Amino acid sequence: MSEGQGILRAPKGLAGLSVADTKISKSGSDGSLVYRGYPISELAANATFEETAYLVLNGRLPTRGQLGEFSEGLASRARVDARVFAIMKGLGRRAHPIDVIRTAVSSLGSIDREEAPGDEEASIEAKMSVLAANSHRVPLGERPRLPRDERGFASNLLQMLTKREASDFERWVFERVLIFYMEHDLNASSFTVRVVASTLADPYAAASAGLSSLKGPLHGGANEAAMEMLLEVKDAANAGAYLDRKFREGKKLMGFGHRVYKAFDPRARLCKVYLKQMADESGDPRLYELCDAVEREMWEKKKIPPNLDYYAAPIFYLLGIEVPLYTPIFAASRIFGWMAHYNEQTEENKLIRPDSVYIGPSGLKYQPLGKRSG
Ligand code: COA
Repeated sequence: MSEGQGILRAPKGLAGLSVADTKISKSGSDGSLVYRGYPISELAANATFEETAYLVLNGRLPTRGQLGEFSEGLASRARVDARVFAIMKGLGRRAHPIDVIRTAVSSLGSIDREEAPGDEEASIEAKMSVLAANSHRVPLGERPRLPRDERGFASNLLQMLTKREASDFERWVFERVLIFYMEHDLNASSFTVRVVASTLADPYAAASAGLSSLKGPLHGGANEAAMEMLLEVKDAANAGAYLDRKFREGKKLMGFGHRVYKAFDPRARLCKVYLKQMADESGDPRLYELCDAVEREMWEKKKIPPNLDYYAAPIFYLLGIEVPLYTPIFAASRIFGWMAHYNEQTEENKLIRPDSVYIGPSGLKYQPLGKRSG
C-alpha cells in the first residue's frame, strides 16, 4: 500500500489487501481452505450440506438436536408465495436467471413483511434454492418445481433442477459441490454483501446485491462460461489448438485462475476426483478426458490452474442440469456464506466507505448550452 496526499492507496482490485477480520473462512495461497477452523477436505469427506451451513452460520458443528431443528427450519420455510413466482414469470423468456432470482429476492423482501416478519435471514436461506431451481423455467412459462425430497437440502435442490433420477453417489457428489460453493472468505459477492450490510440495510438488500456481483463471468458466471467453452472444444484432441487460438485473440479461459490460489484450488482438485469416479461409473470417459486435456494444456502454456467452477461445470452437466442453472446453484449455496458475512459485519459494524484519489480535471468554467464543443 502506498501513500498519496495523506490517503493510503490500496492496490488495484484490493489485491493482497486485508480489509476485514473474519472468523468464517480462509483460503490460502498454499491451496488451503478452512470453514470455521475445519479444513475443506475434512468437511467434504464427512459433513452434510446442512451441517456445513449450520457451521458456517453459527461457528460450530450442530448437535443432533440443533441439526434437526435447523433442517426442519429450512424445509418449513421453503414455501415461496405465488406472488413471487408471478413476478418471476412476468420477466419473460429472455430474462437472465440471476436477474430473475435477484428480482425475486427483492420482492420477497416486501412480501416477507407480511408473511415472515422478523424471520428474514432464515426465510431467504430456505427459499433461495427454490428460486434458483425455478429461475430458468418459470420465466419460460413452465410450472414451478417445488421441494418434495425427504433426503435433505442437496437432494431436494437436485430433484428441482433435473427430472433425471440421480444415483446415491451422484447425490453425494452434488452435495460436496454445494459445500464447496457455500463460502470463500472475501470473494467479490461476499465483500459486496458486507458493504451493503455496513449501511445497516436489511438482508434482502444485501442478498440481492450479492447476486448482482455473482452474475459476472469473473465470479459466479464462470461455471457456465467454462461449460460453454468445454462444449466448444468438444474433443480432448482439440484442446491445444483451441487454447492457442483463444490466447492469440487475447481471451481468458473461464474456469482458470484465482486471486488467492496460484498453484491449485483444493475444491477443484476434489471435484476432479469426483468427476473421474462419475465418468468411471458411467463407462464414458470422454468429458473427463476433455477436461483433463484442457487443464494440461493450460498448465503447460500459462501455469494457471483450474478453479472450482471449471470442475463443478462438467459435474452439473453429467447430472443432467441445464447450463443456465449453474450460477443459480452457486447462489443457492452461497446464500449461507453471505448471511454469515452479513451477521459478522453488522455485529461489529463500521460503515465501509473508502476514499479515492481524484485524478480528473479541476477548475473548469460552466459553458451555457449552445456554447459547448464536442
Ligand atoms: N485465462 C488466461 N489468462 C489468465 C487467466 C485465465 N483464466 N486468469 C489469469 N490470467 C492471466 C492474466 O491475463 C494476467 O496476465 P498478464 O499478467 O500477462 O496480464 C495474469 O494471469 C494475472 O491475472 P489477473 O486477472 O490480473 O489476476 P487476478 O488475480 O485479478 O485474477 C481472476 C483472478 C479469477 C479474475 C482471473 O484468473 C480470471 O479472470 N479467471 C477467469 C474467470 C474465472 O474463472 N473466475 C472464477 C474465479 S473462482
